[in-house]
Amino acid sequence: MIQRFTMGRPIETDAVLSKPRSSDFSAFPYDHRIENNAFVFTFGMEKDDIVYGLGEAPRGINKRGWIYQSYCSDDPFHTETKQSLYAAHNFLMLGSSGIFIDFPARIVWDIGYTKADTAEIRIDGQDFDIYLITRDKPADTVREFRALIGQSYIPPLWAFGFQQSRWSYHNSEAVDRVIAGYDAADIPLDCVYLDIDYMERYKDFTVSETAFPDFARYVAEKRAQNIHLIPIIDAGVKKEDGYSVYEEGRRNGYFCKTADGADFEGGVWPGIVGFPDFLRREVREWFGEKYRFLTDMGIDGFWNDMNEPAIFYSEKGLRNALGKAASLQGENLDLSGFFALKDTFLGLSNSQDDYASIYHTIDGGQVNHQKVHNLYGACMTRAAGEYFEQAFGKEKILMFSRASYIGAHRSSGIWFGDNHSWWSHILLCLRMLPSANMCGFLYCGADLGGFNENATRDLVLRFLALGVFTPLMRNHSALGTRDQECYSFENPGDFRDIIQVRYRLIPYLYDTFRRASENNEMIFRPLSFDYPDDKIARECETQLMLGEECMIAPVYEQNVNGRYVYLPEDMTLFRLSGENVSETPLKKGVHYIEAALNEVPLFVKKGASVPLCRPAMRTALLDLEHMEYITAK
Ligand code: GLC
Repeated sequence: MIQRFTMGRPIETDAVLSKPRSSDFSAFPYDHRIENNAFVFTFGMEKDDIVYGLGEAPRGINKRGWIYQSYCSDDPFHTETKQSLYAAHNFLMLGSSGIFIDFPARIVWDIGYTKADTAEIRIDGQDFDIYLITRDKPADTVREFRALIGQSYIPPLWAFGFQQSRWSYHNSEAVDRVIAGYDAADIPLDCVYLDIDYMERYKDFTVSETAFPDFARYVAEKRAQNIHLIPIIDAGVKKEDGYSVYEEGRRNGYFCKTADGADFEGGVWPGIVGFPDFLRREVREWFGEKYRFLTDMGIDGFWNDMNEPAIFYSEKGLRNALGKAASLQGENLDLSGFFALKDTFLGLSNSQDDYASIYHTIDGGQVNHQKVHNLYGACMTRAAGEYFEQAFGKEKILMFSRASYIGAHRSSGIWFGDNHSWWSHILLCLRMLPSANMCGFLYCGADLGGFNENATRDLVLRFLALGVFTPLMRNHSALGTRDQECYSFENPGDFRDIIQVRYRLIPYLYDTFRRASENNEMIFRPLSFDYPDDKIARECETQLMLGEECMIAPVYEQNVNGRYVYLPEDMTLFRLSGENVSETPLKKGVHYIEAALNEVPLFVKKGASVPLCRPAMRTALLDLEHMEYITAK
């Protein structure tokens, strides 16, 4: 059953496709109050209740015991103590009771942080829709919620191939070296990413002539090798006279404004940029069309970035900070004086003051950015998605975004942003997967090997062994980090063994993905969904159910030969490595499972089968007609 409760006049977010009629608010079942203009409601939690949801948020699958915020944030330190990351996915479940808050400004979710047995949810305003969905089982609640928000994006099949990225492959020679490196090591590969340096001075919808002369020919050449090049697009448009995208945007008044109607200007990669007001239909149409510059040259995949939006500084903020620094020249700064100065500079990026000084135009009126902050990235992605669908039809273009709001799941995937080459981030990725699936985001994954800092060989291999199962399987790393391409480590054969397993599983994974999208199901489920009465399964945060047939349990620690795995029923362990498969039937219970660095453990339920094809160097070369089945007897 779904009930909708409307308060005030909610801003249209496009999250819900067809809205059920609102119930009278007097029937809203939770204790609530208005406090400092915020709507606050609370509910109690029994000792053993599990709280699921919030999509791409930090910490566990069970969200209890922490405080989270829905506020899309450009934050490259995904530590345990963070409250928000890039997305705002306002769907929460207490057991099988679902709550979706359709509200594009800040929401604070205190899930037993202040009082262990109480959840207190603070909506920063009084114009919103709350949907309550009650079913007997969490999976049914998810299905009903997903039907409400519409079918999840399906990418083209090749987007399930292995993808290599780095900030940045600076020119065509660098890209060619990557492809040659993979080919020489016999490691399959489908995509190479173009990070910001492919552009001419970080200007969206340009390609540097010196880095990629005759880009269209180059793209065609790569396509002939069955390689897709995937360029990045950033939200901000460089302010520069003579740059047509900027000039059109300014002339037509398409950029976000300040209170006095001037264009809001902030600094990102290219220096000062204008931020397209993606919340307006005509701006979306204009920006969406711009992707054509690249699709006309044969590009068929994109990643949208910096769309929280990330703002390194505003002119005003920078002026203040520099003024403050100048006024302190020659001063003997004590502890508080020095830290105050330091904080002034640290506080320049993504500052609340800046966000509060941005205005959008909605229905002809000015709306402060803080009221719609969480829609910005979603609307950028919608701009691209609407253009792609109209120009190419469904399932033709790969796209994923950094910032997102529920609704964007219909036109795009997401990636989990700037993680670290930390062992704990294997688990963070694992835990985000079911939560993102609950919120409709099926095409997703983390930067495998970790984005920030140097990765070790064993970390990359273990990360990839989880990535074998994530729809987006991309190795990406930051500027200045050591080479992280699979062939740059010793014994690349181990990497081949892992990535070949992915290619062998593509038919199964793609099919599982498609069914999940069409039937509003999850690809990854917490064990507690499937075994609600099993105490150990209910607490398990290091394994996931995959599809109907499988369970995964990646190794997530260094210097170990394996890990303990809990089997909630009898299953067969298949160790997959390159074209090798070994099988070990196991009984329900806890087992120490060994897995070499070149092995992917997969647990299959008794009686179930998983198809495997022969590996190939590209998805386009896979033989999808002839399958071998591994069957758990
Ligand atoms: C952001 C993105 C990252 C990218 C970098 C440069 O940090 O999250 O993936 O490499 O910008 O474009």
